Amino acid sequence: MKVYVTRPVFDQAVERLRREVDVELNGEDRILSKKELIERLRDKDGALTLLTDAIDLEVLESAPKLKVVANFAVGFNNVAIDSATKMGVVVTNTPGVLTETTADFAWTLLMAAARRVVEGDKFMRTNKSDWVWGPKMFLGYDVFGKTLGLIGLGRIGQAVARRAAGFNMRVIFHDSEPIPEQVVKDLGVTRLPLEELLRVSDFISLHVPLFPETHHLLNDRTFALMKPTCIVVNTSRGPIVDEKALVRALRDKKIAGAGLDVFEREPEIEAGLLELENAVIVPHIASASHETRLKMCMMAADNLLAVLKGNRPPNLVNPEVWDKRRQ
Ligand code: DGY
Repeated sequence: MKVYVTRPVFDQAVERLRREVDVELNGEDRILSKKELIERLRDKDGALTLLTDAIDLEVLESAPKLKVVANFAVGFNNVAIDSATKMGVVVTNTPGVLTETTADFAWTLLMAAARRVVEGDKFMRTNKSDWVWGPKMFLGYDVFGKTLGLIGLGRIGQAVARRAAGFNMRVIFHDSEPIPEQVVKDLGVTRLPLEELLRVSDFISLHVPLFPETHHLLNDRTFALMKPTCIVVNTSRGPIVDEKALVRALRDKKIAGAGLDVFEREPEIEAGLLELENAVIVPHIASASHETRLKMCMMAADNLLAVLKGNRPPNLVNPEVWDKRRQ
């Protein structure tokens, strides 16, 4: 069996793969072009891919032997799932292991934006010795006791909600999926219609996957509903926010700030965003702890090997492919 790993990943995972299959690795830390992906996957049985690899219909059709795409991410919007399913290609992801790390990071962004940590740091570095304490210097917004609006109450949304208890916050949520009563009760959260959540939240954190229904969920209209003191945090997927509308909302002070880990057209950033002091901007690193990224990588390798060895992989995105095979 031959597998392809699309970028340099953790050695432990590559070693695990090498013990069982032939591994070809892109040794360069860059995104492969579609042409390169097509060439390299042509004769492969499996691929360990990253969220930066667009595994679309054309790529899938050019890889007739491909049995599994093991995505090194919980998100899988980079893979054409419907096409993979039709073609009998198993797709796997890495849920669970990054939940707490990502929730920590959503809070990092929330706190950094609310208390202007990045602006303060930049100020210290540029003004070095000639600064003096001032009573109105870098005023931010309190977090404790405020209202946190979670859009999406899946694994990560719930982990963010748990942390809010320490800040004595009211936590409200909107989710188009049913959430078990016990979860809602244990977390002490309240479900609200989206528009009401947008109107009353002091902080809004996004935790929904990218689907056609969630594309541009935050836009000119929905930003206009928010409080001018509201801070928006996005650790989910960039296209959930209309980035042009976000720039307008931040620039025109329709909202107070944003903490952004993800962007609409990564690695491109919307014009004007980088100039805005009220946005904390980081390069898609919410799950980037040593421990978590290693776990994600090992999980992707295990998913891939499971399929190639004929075992049900633990993290199936399209279980119907697997179930059909077994019939
Ligand atoms: C994911 O896994 O989908 C994150 O965006 C990166 O860890």
